[in-house]
Amino acid sequence: ADLRARNTLRVAAKARRLIEIQDATVLPQVLARADVRADPLLVLGEGSNVLFTGDFDGSVLVLATRGVAVRSDADGVRLAVAAGERWDDFVRWTLGQGYAGLENLILIPGTVGAAPIQNIGAYGVEVAEFIESVEAWDRREASVVSLSRAECAFAYRDSLFKRQPDRYIVTAVRFTLPHRQALKLDYAGLREELARMGVERPAPFHVAAAVERLRMRKLPDPAVIGNAGSFFKNPLVSAAQGEALAREHPALPRWPTADGRCKLSAAWLIEAAGFKGHRVGDAGISSRHALVLVNHGQASGAELWALAQTVIEAVAARFGVRLEIEPTIVD
Ligand code: EPU
Repeated sequence: ADLRARNTLRVAAKARRLIEIQDATVLPQVLARADVRADPLLVLGEGSNVLFTGDFDGSVLVLATRGVAVRSDADGVRLAVAAGERWDDFVRWTLGQGYAGLENLILIPGTVGAAPIQNIGAYGVEVAEFIESVEAWDRREASVVSLSRAECAFAYRDSLFKRQPDRYIVTAVRFTLPHRQALKLDYAGLREELARMGVERPAPFHVAAAVERLRMRKLPDPAVIGNAGSFFKNPLVSAAQGEALAREHPALPRWPTADGRCKLSAAWLIEAAGFKGHRVGDAGISSRHALVLVNHGQASGAELWALAQTVIEAVAARFGVRLEIEPTIVD
């Protein structure tokens, strides 16, 4: 099976087989197949957070499941959403229904099932805060499980699912959107964008529109140029290291974290190391945003990965900070 159209970095790669299921209840039978059991398995959503560095000698599983179940109670609107729904379609649907909460997370590529895996986040909101539980197939125990938000161990771009990558197949996500909640407007640039739009009393759909405008301006569109959003995570360092770096580089953006550490802007570090807009063949770092690795056309996964490693080494040599990557590398 050809995977080029199934990863947003538009890397050419093949899998031994591709299995698409429309109904999560068939999962146990599919996984029990002798050919499937014999090979590695990769669950793929929209392929917006994956880098194939070569062909994948195994089965790619796609959950093309659909459906949203809605229930409202005293706490809020409860939504049970099939893993295969597109995240951005789901966000737009909630806003259309008048349900607030997810407006800051508009325009993020990928599926609902993928959202909890790296705990998608943008503009001051992480999806974890709205997740009640995650329904999954536990491959180790061969059973259906429901994992509470606490059990999912969410952190910045991290979760139980990232730490145990071959164990769970997410089949549905349960969200609670509280009836009453304040808009989150503190992320840098958001209030300014609302002011530019002439919005004085923002409603959730105004916030969504402002986030869309910011994202469209800052991030390259994967429909136009292959990319997987932020390729690097913003590094977390000790408060002491953060202060030492700030003394040397006063312009370096940094944010204190709840656990007393310091989060640094990886984009700033990469740009300062001279890589923004850098290009080796068709592999590049976006000229719009230094966190984004881009494929200008025919770059192979191996070439993109080599460039990413060059960036990591250069930033480590210059600033003493080792960047971690956000996508899953499949080799
Ligand atoms: N900056 C640079 N150079 C650049 C881009 C940004 O120096 O090329 C500086 C800016 O000046 C700014 C700071 O970096 O002060 C932060 O930039 P931005 O607001 O774009 O956010 P980010 O920290 O670079 C994170 C997420 C994005 C998310 C934005 C907005 C990560 C790894 N990335 O980026 O998420 O959209 O915040 O909330 O945490 C993604 O995960 O794929 C993604 C796009």
